[in-house]
Amino acid sequence: MYDIISIGSATRDVFIQADAVKVKADADSKTGQALCLNLGSKIKIDKIVFTTGGGATNTATTFARQGLKSACISLVGDDPEGREIIRTLEQEGIDVSFIKKHADDVTAYSVVLVDKGGERTILSYKGEGEHLGQVDIPFDRLATEWLFISSLGGNLDLLKETISWAKANEIKIATNPGGTELAHGAETLGPIYGEIDILVMNQEEAADLTGISFDSEQAIFEALDKMITGVVVMTKGPKGVVVSDKKSIYRAGVPDSPRVERTGAGDAWSAGFVSEFILRQDIEKAIQFATANASSVVTQFGAKAGILRKDDWGPWPLVEVLKE
Ligand SMILES: Nc1ncnc2c1ncn2[C@@H]1O[C@H](COP(=O)(O)OP(=O)(O)OP(=O)(O)O)[C@@H](O)[C@H]1O
Ligand SMILES: [Mg+2]
Repeated sequence: MYDIISIGSATRDVFIQADAVKVKADADSKTGQALCLNLGSKIKIDKIVFTTGGGATNTATTFARQGLKSACISLVGDDPEGREIIRTLEQEGIDVSFIKKHADDVTAYSVVLVDKGGERTILSYKGEGEHLGQVDIPFDRLATEWLFISSLGGNLDLLKETISWAKANEIKIATNPGGTELAHGAETLGPIYGEIDILVMNQEEAADLTGISFDSEQAIFEALDKMITGVVVMTKGPKGVVVSDKKSIYRAGVPDSPRVERTGAGDAWSAGFVSEFILRQDIEKAIQFATANASSVVTQFGAKAGILRKDDWGPWPLVEVLKE
C-alpha cells in the first residue's frame, strides 16, 4: 500500500544560464518581454545544469523526502534521458514500476534559458509525455491512500477515468492541474473536480478557470469553494498563498531568502502542502512547510535540488499564517 502516487509528466531538464542573454521589451510577445540572443553569434554559456523535472517526478520527490511511501506514473522514451529519470527516482526510493517506456517518441525534454537575473524562458518538447493514456495506468495494481494528479496534458478522458476510479476506491485526490487541463473550462471541469480533496492553482490559473478577474480574490474563492468540496489553494508566486478549507481563509507570504531560479516552485509548494496535510492534518503547518519547500527550491537551479528532507527544514523560518 502506497501513501501517495503521483501521476503526470516526467522530463529531462537542462538549465542554461548565459550572461549574454538579454531581456528586452517586446510588444509582440505575450508577456511584453523577450529573451534575446544575437542572431548568428556563438554565445558563451556561463552555467549549465542537467537535471530532471515534470510534475509527477517533482512531486513524488517531495513525498519520498518527507518519508511517504510513494510511486510515480509517467511515460518516458526508451532512451538515455528516460533511463536517467528512472535512475534519479529510484535513488529517492520512489517506486518506478508503473513508469512505462515507449519507443515511438523520445522522453519529454526542456531547455530552460536563464538570464543573469534568474528570469527564464522554457523550450519544451512534450515527447512521450504527450501520449500518456488510460492504457498506461494499471488501475488494478494501484493500492494507495492518496493520488496526486499533476498535468495530464489536457487528456480529459484520462482525468475523468482517474478521478472516478479513485473516488470509487475511496482514494483521496490532490491536484495541481496544468494549463491544458484548465483550458477545458469550469463547466467541464467543475463536475469532474467536484469531490477532490485538495486543488492547487496559481492566481492566473484560478482567474482563468473561474472567469473572474485576477484581483477579485474573494469572488474567485467563492466560486472555487462552490465548485469543489475539498481544500482550495491559490498560489501567488513571490506574494505567497491563500488557502480555503471552507471554514477559514489562510494567508501567508514568503520568507526573505535568496531566489536563483524558480522552476519547480509550484510543484514544491503543492507537494509540500499535501505531504504535511497527510502527515499531520494541520493546514497551517502544511502552508508553512509548503512555503519552506518552495523557497528552498527557488534557491537552486532545477525543480528537485532544493526539495527539503524529512525533519530538515534547514534555515527556513516558518512564515506567519494569518487566519480569517
Ligand atoms: N520568486 C519566488 N520567490 C519566493 N517564493 C516563490 C517564488 N516563486 C514562487 N514561490 C513560492 O512558491 C509558491 C508557488 O509559486 P507560484 O505561485 O509561482 O506557482 P506556479 O505558478 O504554479 O509555479 P510553476 O511555474 O512552478 O508551475 C508560492 O506561493 C511561493 O510560496
Ligand atoms: Mg504551476
